[in-house]
Order: sequence, then C-alpha cells, then structure tokens
Amino acid sequence: MTGPGGPAGNSGLILEALVTTLDPGGAMHLAPMGPHLDPADPGRLLLLPYPDSDTGRNLRRHPEGVVHVTDDVLLLARAAVGPVEPPPPAFPARHVRGFVLAGACRYHEFRVTAVDDSGPRVRLAAEVVHAGRLRDFFGFNRAKHAVVEAAILATRTAFLPAEEIAAEYGRLAVLVAKTGGPAEKEAFALLEAHVEKAKASRQK
Ligand SMILES: Cc1cc2nc3c(=O)[nH]c(=O)nc-3n(C[C@H](O)[C@H](O)[C@H](O)COP(=O)(O)O)c2cc1C
Repeated sequence: MTGPGGPAGNSGLILEALVTTLDPGGAMHLAPMGPHLDPADPGRLLLLPYPDSDTGRNLRRHPEGVVHVTDDVLLLARAAVGPVEPPPPAFPARHVRGFVLAGACRYHEFRVTAVDDSGPRVRLAAEVVHAGRLRDFFGFNRAKHAVVEAAILATRTAFLPAEEIAAEYGRLAVLVAKTGGPAEKEAFALLEAHVEKAKASRQK
C-alpha cells in the first residue's frame, strides 16, 4: 500500500459502480460497490468490501474482476437487494477471468495487487489492466442519484434506524416522482418494498 489513503484512495473520490467477480463455481457475481478512484491516476483503484460480502470473499479467492460505470439504476437497485435473476447480459472480460456487463457505459477490468485487512474494512488495491467503452452515459439526473442513495440505504437496514431510512426515502421519493422515468420509478418502488419488508421482519 502506498500513502495513508492507500493507492487511488487519496482523492477521496468514490465511484458508485457495479462490480462483477467470479463466484466459487466460476459464474458471474454482481454487486454494487464504491471503489475509490483518482481521476489523475486511472490505472489504479481501491475496493473496500465488507468482510462478510460475497464480493470480498470472491476477490480473496480469485483476485480479478470488473468495475462498471453505469446509469442503469434499475439494475443497480436490483443488485443491491439480492441476486439478479436472470443475470444481465454479459461477455467474457479480455484481460482477466471475469465478466463485462453488456449494458454498461464503461468498464475497468482489474487485478488485486495488495490486500490490507488490518482495519475493520478490507482494503483491496487493484491495477486496471484493461478499460473499455460501450455506450454514452445519460448524464446527471436527480432521480437516478436518488435511486443510488436509496439503494445504499437499502443495504443498511440491519444497522440504520428504520425512522432514519423512512425520512430519507420520503425526501428521495419527491425527486424520483419529479425527475425520473419508468425505470427509476420501478427501481425506487422495489427498494421501498425491500425496506418495508426488512422493517417488518425486524419488528417480528
Ligand atoms: C451504490 C452502492 C455502493 C456500495 N458500496 C459498497 C462498498 O464499497 N463496499 C461494500 O462492502 N458494500 C457496498 N455496498 C453494499 C453492497 O452492495 C451490499 O452489501 C451487497 O449486499 C454486497 O453484495 P455481495 O455480498 O453480493 O458482495 C454498496 C451498495 C450500493 C447500493
């Protein structure tokens, strides 16, 4: 690891991305993750998976994967709350053993170069071995960003107070209703249903 923030960690810039790794059977595993990237140093990235995440476990077993830049927040929301069935279209990565999401805007095939598990979150430093572009990014949209926020909250129902999540969802719902299209509305609705279900199971 280099420097206090680790490789690519010093910029503090986090990309909310979709990451594919290989599961124990060699199939594609998909999860939203927020790697740290430094725009001035696009050849490196830093992943911070929770130790209990499948992505973290997969990368310890097979230290290669693909980070995707996408504006498909419906896929991001679906991946945040469980396995996406059937899996989205993907093709084999070129320079690592892994999969590229065919619907992504850009992708970065990476290989883990250093593992630091001295802290509460494992820090996986990686080098980008190949990057590709598939289509244009939609651009800023408040509903898309609201869905990203809602998806992050949906993955934290086990430890965030239900009232805090409900208050945030109330605020985010306005942005989705005002500025979203059908995909953003569907994504938000499925996240709301997930959060409701999690709340009900905690109250049991
Ligand atoms: C936009 C977004 C970014 C996320 N970033 C991370 C992250 O950097 N590290 C992490 O462990 N979990 C992150 N999460 C939560 C994981 O996606 C979630 O815990 C998921 O269940 C982990 O999936 P896995 O166990 O299949 O790997 C993020 C979720 C979202 C929606």
